[in-house]
Amino acid sequence: MEKRFDRFILVTGGCGFIGSHLIKHLVRKYPNYQIINYDALTYAGNIENLDGVHDRENYVFVNGDIRDTHRLETVFKNFMITDVIHMAAESHVDRSIVYPTVFVETNVMGTINLLNMAKEFWKDDYSNHIFLNMGTDEIFGALDNEDEPFNELTPLNPHSPYSTSKAAAVMFARTYYEAFGVPVINLACGNAIGPNQFPEKLVPLAIDRLINGGKIPIYGQGEQKRDWTNVYDIAEAIDLLIHKGKPGELYCIGGDAQVENRVIIHDIIIELAKQMANGDAKEQEKLEQKFFDKIEFIRDPRGKSHDFRYDINHDKITARLGWTPKHTYEDSIRETVRWYLHNQPWVSNVKNGSYKEWIGSYYK
Ligand code: DAU
Repeated sequence: MEKRFDRFILVTGGCGFIGSHLIKHLVRKYPNYQIINYDALTYAGNIENLDGVHDRENYVFVNGDIRDTHRLETVFKNFMITDVIHMAAESHVDRSIVYPTVFVETNVMGTINLLNMAKEFWKDDYSNHIFLNMGTDEIFGALDNEDEPFNELTPLNPHSPYSTSKAAAVMFARTYYEAFGVPVINLACGNAIGPNQFPEKLVPLAIDRLINGGKIPIYGQGEQKRDWTNVYDIAEAIDLLIHKGKPGELYCIGGDAQVENRVIIHDIIIELAKQMANGDAKEQEKLEQKFFDKIEFIRDPRGKSHDFRYDINHDKITARLGWTPKHTYEDSIRETVRWYLHNQPWVSNVKNGSYKEWIGSYYK
């Protein structure tokens, strides 16, 4: 194959929420890189998320599963893959409590399959390649109110099948660097917020129910805290890491925006009512009242595996590479609410049969 590009970057899970934003960012910014989007199109992957880049010369879509080693081998060979950004994962904590096995198959075995490909195909010279493994702060477990935020030295202590599978993936990735020299960079990231997130997660689920009807189920009293990072800031961090990150290292990123679950729901309600009322103060008040009535505090379905608090110290990537979150919490709430309000056809398309089945069985 003629070498028209400087790098051939395999992005796994590129039709998902964070993956699709990352691909749009890379395809537009680097016409000299070919971006190969490898995605199994499971329930949370949506090809429409890539609208606007399908026709770009430096973008290719391959429908494939990271559990399929034969297909991965073909892709590595045919596209002469130089780098991997591994985003594909089963990522919903609640689903992992109901169906843990698929989390091991995809998040652990799928990651090992990719690491094996990188180990084999790049073995002549690992120095010209990067394998970025997308991870989560949930690998560190849960914080109490008085604890210091997580950082790169925090011991791993996962509590759910999801976070345990991601912790295993991080450990395997690190091991492949130490044992074989595969140039792995691990990333641990907090809760992401932004457009195109599948409406099984708290933020899009709440916005959807406010707009389209239904209660907002807040687990327990909603006192848990999450640190929200804008999806565009996450794409910037990954861009930086594949260019300047150091193989063998773990980097933590977060949004400097830690809030209680009940507070983010409150803020979404206020913002949505404001945007829908369009300057009519009476209407805004009426909508707020209607929306607050939708909140329902329910028995916590996650039980003991529900981590109380996440918060992240991103000093390392800030000091070494200059990354900081550019979007404030308020920007993220405003932009995300606006996107969902104006992209209702996207929302109704993704709420297909399997979505209804999940919601119907989990929130009985
Ligand atoms: O911290 C990074 C992680 O953040 C990512 O690795 C995960 O893929 C992502 O799902 C997210 O995990 P969380 O469990 O924090 O996100 P989720 O949106 O599912 O829930 C946020 C909080 O809201 C959590 O404390 C549980 C609560 N919750 C969630 C749902 C779906 C509710 O109270 N009601 C709900 O209906």
